Amino acid sequence: MNGGAQVVVVARVLLPAGLDPLRERFEVREGGLDTTREEVLAIAPGASGFVADPSVPVDAALLDACGESLRVVANFAVGYDNIDLEACRDRGVIVTNTPDVLTEATAELAIGLTLAAARRMSDAERDLRAGRWRGWDPAAYRGIEIWGSTVGVVGMGRIGHRYARLAHGLGAEIVYAGPSAKPDAEGELGARRLEFDQLLEASDIVSLHAPATPGTHHLIGGHELELIGPHGVLVNTSRGPLVDSEAVAEALECGILGAAGLDVYEGEPSVPQRLLAAPRCVLLPHIGSATVPSRDGMARAVADNVIAVLEGRDPPSRVV
Ligand code: DGY
Repeated sequence: MNGGAQVVVVARVLLPAGLDPLRERFEVREGGLDTTREEVLAIAPGASGFVADPSVPVDAALLDACGESLRVVANFAVGYDNIDLEACRDRGVIVTNTPDVLTEATAELAIGLTLAAARRMSDAERDLRAGRWRGWDPAAYRGIEIWGSTVGVVGMGRIGHRYARLAHGLGAEIVYAGPSAKPDAEGELGARRLEFDQLLEASDIVSLHAPATPGTHHLIGGHELELIGPHGVLVNTSRGPLVDSEAVAEALECGILGAAGLDVYEGEPSVPQRLLAAPRCVLLPHIGSATVPSRDGMARAVADNVIAVLEGRDPPSRVV
């Protein structure tokens, strides 16, 4: 701890790649992985910098607990739906995130989930481990191939584009939906932009890469799952609230949806019991960015953002 140094509060944890440079310059208070909201509020007063992550809601009450010293909220994530941007703007607090460094990791995980769901890997592995494998069965675990399929990318941003490139490399035709045309993806991959419902109908595989906003809440519900269809695959590595989990569980149970690969959920870390029990469903615990280079890069980006603001410079990745 440096006497009289500015205080940076890390609500939960930050990896050494980001923590060390912060500790060299500031007094750092860390909440810990299992910290409660009350504990975060207790260490917040006097913070000049506040480090959050997707599981830490940053609202007016938390900003007020930090007090007038607060200048930057640095999110340890590219998504920032956990942060009340208006409340930050009102208080003149800068918000930053960690784009780019997690693009490859997240796109690769989405491809992994696509393959795992399309090929029923989760059910097959569960059966094997439980001693239910009775030998080679020509009718069992039959899925679909990416080669020759149509992959629908919802949100052709950085991660969506990288995912599309990988899927295209595996032989898929790419269609996409989103608020604006993406000439780069169209030129490079021959991607075609469709209306959302058209995309769902045209795609064998639908992968979500859009942010959580009021406009994308339950973007995928019962009607959309019917459009994806009994042979279709839904993949979500973006944010849980985009998908109605109960509707997915029901669609899997009834055979309305072919398969699902999910990495994110509403109300994490709890996952609906019905989804846990659903067939043809691969479930991961929000590990899209969990590679060494990606998480170290994110931690470094957090530190770079905090240091820049507290030293009076523009942060490398400012949201507001
Ligand atoms: C992000 O950066 O938004 C991810 O969800 C964290 O892995």
